[in-house]
Formats: sequence, C-alpha cells, structure tokens
Amino acid sequence: MDKFHIIGGQRLEGCVSISGAKNSALPCMAAGLLTPGTITLHNIPYVRDIITQRRLLEDLGATVLTPELRTHKISAPQIEVFEAPYELVKTMRASVLALGPLLARFGKAKVSLPGGCAIGTRPIDLHLAGFEQLGAEVKLESGNVVARAPETGRLRGASIEFEKVTVTGTENLMMAATLASGTTVLKNAACEPEIDDLASLLNKMGARVRGAGTPIIEIEGVKELGSAEHTIIPDRIETSTFIVAAAITNGELEIRDCQPAHLTSVVEKLREAGVEIFELNQSTLLARGSAKLRARDVTTEPYPRFPTDMQAQYMALMTQAEGRSAIAETVFENRFMHASEMQRMGGRIHIDGRNAVVEGPTRLTGAPVQASDLRASASLVLAGLVAEGETVIDRVYHIDRGYEKIETKLRSVGAQIERVRQSVTAPLPSPQILANAD
Ligand code: EPU
Repeated sequence: MDKFHIIGGQRLEGCVSISGAKNSALPCMAAGLLTPGTITLHNIPYVRDIITQRRLLEDLGATVLTPELRTHKISAPQIEVFEAPYELVKTMRASVLALGPLLARFGKAKVSLPGGCAIGTRPIDLHLAGFEQLGAEVKLESGNVVARAPETGRLRGASIEFEKVTVTGTENLMMAATLASGTTVLKNAACEPEIDDLASLLNKMGARVRGAGTPIIEIEGVKELGSAEHTIIPDRIETSTFIVAAAITNGELEIRDCQPAHLTSVVEKLREAGVEIFELNQSTLLARGSAKLRARDVTTEPYPRFPTDMQAQYMALMTQAEGRSAIAETVFENRFMHASEMQRMGGRIHIDGRNAVVEGPTRLTGAPVQASDLRASASLVLAGLVAEGETVIDRVYHIDRGYEKIETKLRSVGAQIERVRQSVTAPLPSPQILANAD
C-alpha cells in the first residue's frame, strides 16, 4: 500500500486543472449497458473506481476501448453474464448501478448486495423498492439481489416517491425507466449535477427524461436506445478540495476546467469563513487564502446544500479558523473517522454522534495517520499541508479511487508531497482492508 509523505508549511500558488467527475462518470459508464450501440464518453477521470467500473462492464461482456486516456468507448451489443459479483461490489458500491440498465434491457440482473462501509450502513432498499414499483420481482438469494422484469420482459412505468434522497438510487431508477413501457415519475429525486449529467447522456441516446436536476423527474419510456457521445462534467468535489488547499495554506490557486455553477453552497460557506473566491470565467476560479480564517458552522445535506463529500475537508480547514465551528453530518451516520486522525495531529475536535465541534486555530503537527475513506484521505492531505513537520498518510489507495494524481497536482503548485511505494516484496493488504468500499 502506498503512503504519502507530506512536509507541511508550504504556501500553494499556481494553476491546477480539474478532472472529470468520478460520480458522474460511473453511472454514465453503466448507461452503456442500456444500448446495443456505442457510447463515447470524454473527460473520464483517471482514477481507480473507473478502472473497477470498466472491469465490471468487461466481465459482463461489454467492450471498452480507450482511444485516448480520458475517452472511453463502451459497446454492449450482447451481454454474456448478468451478474455483478461480490468481488467487485465489495471494492466499489457503485457497481450496483449495473442493476437498473441490465433489468431494463435484458429483464434480469443479479448483483451482490453491498454491505456497510467505512462511512455508514448504506442500504440499497430504496433502489430495490423502486424496481418493484416498476413491476420487477426482487429477491435476496445468498447475499445477492436477484431481479427480474415482468413476463413481458419490460418494466412498467410508475410513480415512485423516494422516502429519502438517494443519488445512485435516483440514477438506477432513472436508467431503468428509460426502457420501461409508459411514463415514470420520480419524486423527491436527488438534484445533484451528476444526475443532470446522466440525464443529458440518456437523452442523447434517445431517452425522454425531463426535470433532471429538480426533485421531480419524468421519464417517458422508449423501445430502444442508441449510440451517443458525451463529455463528463468537471468534478465539483475535487474543485472544492483545491479551493480548501489554497485557503488552508494561505495560498492562491487558479482552478481551471471547473464548473463554478455547481459549487454555490461550498463557495458561499468558504467565503463566510474568509476565503476569497473569484469567478474568472465560466470554467475558472481563483481561490485565495487569508491569514484570518473565521469559524463557521456547517450542516451537510443533499444538493444544492453543503455536500457530505466536502465535510472532512471543511473540518481540516476549521482547525485553522478562529473560534468554534459546529459541523453536523446528516447524510451518513459514521462519517467522522478523519476526526480522530486530525486529533492525533493536534486538532481540537469533539465528536458527539453526528455532530462535531472544532476549536481553532490550532497549530497542527505532522504525524503518521491512516486514511479511512476517499474524502477522509483528502482531508488528511489538507491537514498535512498546513501541519508543522512531516505527516505520513497510510492507505492512500482510498484517495486513488477518486482523485486523479492528487500528489502530482499539489506538487505542481508548491506542495512537498511524495508517494512512497510499498516494496513489491512486502505482503499484500488483506482483502478485508481493501473491501472498504464507498
Ligand atoms: N440510503 C438508504 N437507502 C437506499 C439508498 C440510500 O437508506 O436505498 C441512505 C444512505 O444510507 C445515506 C443516504 O441515504 O444515508 C444518502 O445515500 P445516497 O444513496 O445518496 O448515496 P450513494 O448514492 O450511495 C453517492 C455518492 C457518494 C456521496 C453520496 C451522497 C456515487 C457513486 N457516490 O452515494 O460519494 O457521498 O451520494 O452525496 O455517486 C464519494 O464520492 O466519496 C462518495 C461517497
């Protein structure tokens, strides 16, 4: 397992370019299963989860070509197997996004039921209840979800109201409904930009999806979908992480190839905390730190409110702000594992259930720490950038799942960060450790 060695205290300055959004690329790749045609996706980030998703598609019988590093051409004229096995689902929960497309096009699917992970129990009951409302029979057999379309082989449009906002649940149901007979209405749907991005790909494939990006999505089913070409939106969480990197090091970063319109709640909160953020044009931001950061409370909630995927990075920033900040995590029940690592670096953080209080500013000191999930790893990198001395972050495979070459990007703007590769002769990590999917 690789580690990051960071020497803190460098002010970051320069330009970074943002990669495509992992959480948009994953469902868009799964949408390739909906058509016998070819979908061409540009701006796919080069991160581990994409490699896993590609492997899943290939295992099912699809062909994935990469004429360029960030372009994937996915063709699934036929599928040989209809199953996402435990081996894959346990390393990446987004494998469940194969369910909707397989069920819609082939009338059958078997996907291993994902267990809990480092950030919460994360059931998929709402996905399954939605498939049932579309007429599917859904059973649980030996740890697998086995779903079948009605005898006609086609799902039936329905009105489905989600009890709770679910991002991949909305995506799975939206994809399933594209090939159903009749119209489906999804109520209390997730509004994340990734949903809108998937809908625009589906519409290019010939689907009839309206209202994506709002809580009510209407999908008029069609008989078949065709080929399409689409460019994945920029990663709003990577963008926000770099804004915090500029802020925490009192630096100045020009952040290119991003989509400022997707960052409203984060930008608003960071400005309140004293970070200067300017929109230079529609795809470029300038973020500038200030010596006087102010503590500000935050509550994570579904889009367009403050994202849970930025909570850990915001906590790192608040260790440097003047005063007490209260951070409430309402989306996942166990997403504060980074706090105990930050405490080891000197952070004054108190956790009580889903609430954290950070008292700042504190002079963090470098320490050996462990990453527990993707965003927690990013927060420890940020803490390491401002800490005195050396921070060694273990289990950085978590960060490789969703941030493209973060150490290269950070080094290019002045950070002292090195990846230390584990010797090839060292024992491999146990499958238990690798199975920490998010
Ligand atoms: N939930 C249920 N039942 C369901 C589905 C969800 O109870 O059937 C609950 C979850 O347990 C959670 C809440 O609803 O408490 C929201 O979960 P959601 O389904 O929205 O999460 P997700 O779709 O599994 C996606 C992102 C996550 C991101 C969340 C929330 C992808 C591939 N993953 O997960 O991204 O945190 O939405 O915004 O899109 C990350 O990138 O680091 C990451 C974890």
